[in-house]
Amino acid sequence: MKTEMTEQELLINRTGIMTHPELSAELIQGVKEAEPSSEGDLSEIAANRAEYLEEATPIGSNPVVVADDEADGAEEPAAALETGAEALPLLLDKLGERLAFERQGTRLYEALLQKCELLGEDDAGPSLDDLRHIHEEEMEHFKLLQNVITEIGGDATVQTPSADVAGVLSQGILQIVSDPRTTLAQTLQAMLNAELVDNDGWQMLITLATTLGHNDLESGFEKALESEQEHLENVRAWLEALTLKEASAFPGVDGIAGSEPQEGQSKSRSGKKKQTSRSNKRKKK
Ligand SMILES: [Fe+2]
Ligand SMILES: [Fe+2]
Repeated sequence: MKTEMTEQELLINRTGIMTHPELSAELIQGVKEAEPSSEGDLSEIAANRAEYLEEATPIGSNPVVVADDEADGAEEPAAALETGAEALPLLLDKLGERLAFERQGTRLYEALLQKCELLGEDDAGPSLDDLRHIHEEEMEHFKLLQNVITEIGGDATVQTPSADVAGVLSQGILQIVSDPRTTLAQTLQAMLNAELVDNDGWQMLITLATTLGHNDLESGFEKALESEQEHLENVRAWLEALTLKEASAFPGVDGIAGSEPQEGQSKSRSGKKKQTSRSNKRKKK
C-alpha cells in the first residue's frame, strides 16, 4: 500500500550515500555491471572539443564607433581622443560589459528587495532602506556608463562580446536571487558573488580607461568604485551576521562572536565591529 510522506520526511536530505550504507554496496555493484551507453573514451571527447575550438568563430564582434565629427552640433564628437583611439572598440567592449552588469545588478536588488519586503526585515540582514540605497546606486552606475559610451562615440544599446559573457556568468546569480526557496543568507551569498565581480570590474575599467588616455573618466569611475566597495562590505557583513545568527540558535554556541549584531552594526571575522550601510548611509545624509 502506498503511504504518503509527511512534510518532515520529505525535508530529510537523502542525497548522501551514507544515509543508507547497506544500499551503497548495491549501488557500487550496479555501476560495475552497467555498460557505458556510448562507445569511446576521454580522448574522443578531447578530439571533439579540439574540432569545435578550431572551427569556432568569436562569441561576438567588438562594437564600432558610431558618432562622427559631423554629428548634429556636438562640440567634440567621439571625444577626439588621440591616445589609444584605435583601441576605442576594446574600451567600448568593456564599458558595455559593465553596463550590462549594472543593469543586471539593478534587477538583482529589485528581486532581493521584493524578497525582503515579503519575508520581513531580519535584524542581522539589510533593511529595506539599505537595499533601496544600493539599488539606486546600481542604477546611477548604469546611467553613468550609458552617458560615457555615448560621449565617446559608442552605442549604448550594443550587446558587446564581454557583455555577453558577463550576462551568461550572472545568470546563476539571478536564478538564486529570484528562487522563492532560497533563504536570505543564500540570496546574499549570490549577491556577494555579484559585488565581488562588480568591484573588480570597476577597478579594471579605471585601469583600462586611464591606460588608453581617458583620464577624464577616472573621477566618475572612482566614485562608482567607492560605492561598490561599500556594497561589498555590507553584503559580506550581512551574510556573516545571518550565518552566525543561525549558528547561535544551536545549544552551546550562544557565545559565538558576532552572533548578536546590534543596530547598524555587524561583526567581522576578527570580532571587530564594522559599520553596515545603515550607519554609512546615516553619515551620508
Ligand atoms: Fe554595480
Ligand atoms: Fe554593487
